[in-house]
Amino acid sequence: MMKIRQLHAAYGRIEALHGVDLDVGEGEVVCLVGRNGVGKTSTMRAIVQELIQVTKGTVEFDGASVVGVPSHDIIKRGIGYVPEDRRAFASLTVAENLRVVRKGAGNGQWTVDGVYALFPHLAEGRKRLAGVLSGGEQQMLSIARSLLTNPRLLLLDEPNEGLAPKIIDEIIAAILKLKQERVSMLVSEQSLRTIRACGDRVVVIDRGASVFHGTAAEFLGNPEIARQYLMVSGH
Ligand SMILES: Nc1ncnc2c1ncn2[C@@H]1O[C@H](COP(=O)(O)OP(=O)(O)OP(=O)(O)O)[C@@H](O)[C@H]1O
Ligand SMILES: [Mg+2]
Repeated sequence: MMKIRQLHAAYGRIEALHGVDLDVGEGEVVCLVGRNGVGKTSTMRAIVQELIQVTKGTVEFDGASVVGVPSHDIIKRGIGYVPEDRRAFASLTVAENLRVVRKGAGNGQWTVDGVYALFPHLAEGRKRLAGVLSGGEQQMLSIARSLLTNPRLLLLDEPNEGLAPKIIDEIIAAILKLKQERVSMLVSEQSLRTIRACGDRVVVIDRGASVFHGTAAEFLGNPEIARQYLMVSGH
């Protein structure tokens, strides 16, 4: 469904990506892993054409190039992006934040009740202002907002970053439920937890280029790769 070949991308004159290959198939969860600053976020931004310019290589979704396509049209094509900063309108309530989402071109499968069922935590706090939510609640709201555009491919940038273990369990449970609903996902991570819980395949990035592609089992079965390219202690 998504096919990236030899992607090069730059912020102005500063090249951040120099050779990323990446595939996401129908219904697959692909984990994009690598240390701080190697280009995980930049890869996602290049897919949705935000902030970074593709200078070489190809990014195709459903067989059509997304390079040069405006970000709002990319959402309409069915790609959802949940950035690492968990954007929401701070002065609106949870419910209002969900109400103002503009629907994508998808056939309207996701509803506000549907995202509340996925995240009961959000349903309980629907009258609270987004600005006072905990990090985990903000992450849930951010994913929920993206789901309302009915993406077939969801890009989650470090969804578990800085969250308490119990909340991470809730996010992972949601990812597993979405997988059952056949939403394809690209999830960036610096730990092994998501890979263990729900990863089908793993792509490792190092200094702006993809350096490993394999199944989750192949990746987890070779701790040397994690040691070399991630800051993990094996937990
Ligand atoms: N807006 C920007 N302008 C210029 N350079 C940037 C910008 N954002 C990121 N970079 C640079 O691009 C490179 C890749 O950064 P990126 O944020 O994609 O890495 P990352 O893997 O997401 O890191 P982290 O784990 O810290 O989120 C880094 O060298 C970074 O300094
Ligand atoms: Mg990042």
